[in-house]
Amino acid sequence: MSGGTAAGDAPVIAIDGPSGSGKGTIARRVARELGWALLDSGALYRLVALAAQQRGVALDDTGALAELAASLDVRFGSDAHGEEQIWLEEEDVTASIRTEECGAGASAVAALEPVRSALLALQRGFRRAPGLVADGRDMGTHVFRDASLKVFLTASPKERARRRHKQLKEKGIDVSLAALSRDIEERDRRDSERSVAPLRPAEDARILDSSGKSIENVTQTVLDWMSEL
Ligand code: DC
Repeated sequence: MSGGTAAGDAPVIAIDGPSGSGKGTIARRVARELGWALLDSGALYRLVALAAQQRGVALDDTGALAELAASLDVRFGSDAHGEEQIWLEEEDVTASIRTEECGAGASAVAALEPVRSALLALQRGFRRAPGLVADGRDMGTHVFRDASLKVFLTASPKERARRRHKQLKEKGIDVSLAALSRDIEERDRRDSERSVAPLRPAEDARILDSSGKSIENVTQTVLDWMSEL
């Protein structure tokens, strides 16, 4: 036991926002600075989409997808250089879940309520002392409604497409910026308009626009907000 804080009482920082807003990068930095655990909830939806593809499960077979989600055998870790590694059963899927195809599949399965419910307990299981930084679309509105700090991170669509393009290029994935902008718009629309847990800021969230701001600047703002509580 560390400091007597039960896992369920550990503080949570929820960072939600659209794709390309920088949530993942900021969440990782904030978690590292504070020495807290990290939950990349988008990776879970991506894993369900990947597992479905590998097993030939159709993206509209709600029952089978919910079963896949409920039995995900996933492990998050890091390699010798501290880089993120994600394992699905015995397979290293770190790179394969980051493709645009997997992102589109994730957005489709994420619209299914039974899939979201099946992932709830898994997500809440990441909460532990001394704290958790959780990034996604519904961390503050649904999964961790009692989060100590809720941040809704945004950036202009143009900047988000540019960042995503750079990220993919660094991973050796070649996509046109125009196609990426269209995909981002389409994904934003689907994530915001779906009836279950749509992408929107929690009523008590602080809005942070990261357009034109450095990673350090945005990270520091979140850390300052947390220390002011
Ligand atoms: O953040 P990401 O691009 O890895 O997320 C992939 C998809 O998963 C995204 O289109 C929306 C969905 N998602 C969600 O619905 N709820 C979350 N908490 C996280 C992601």
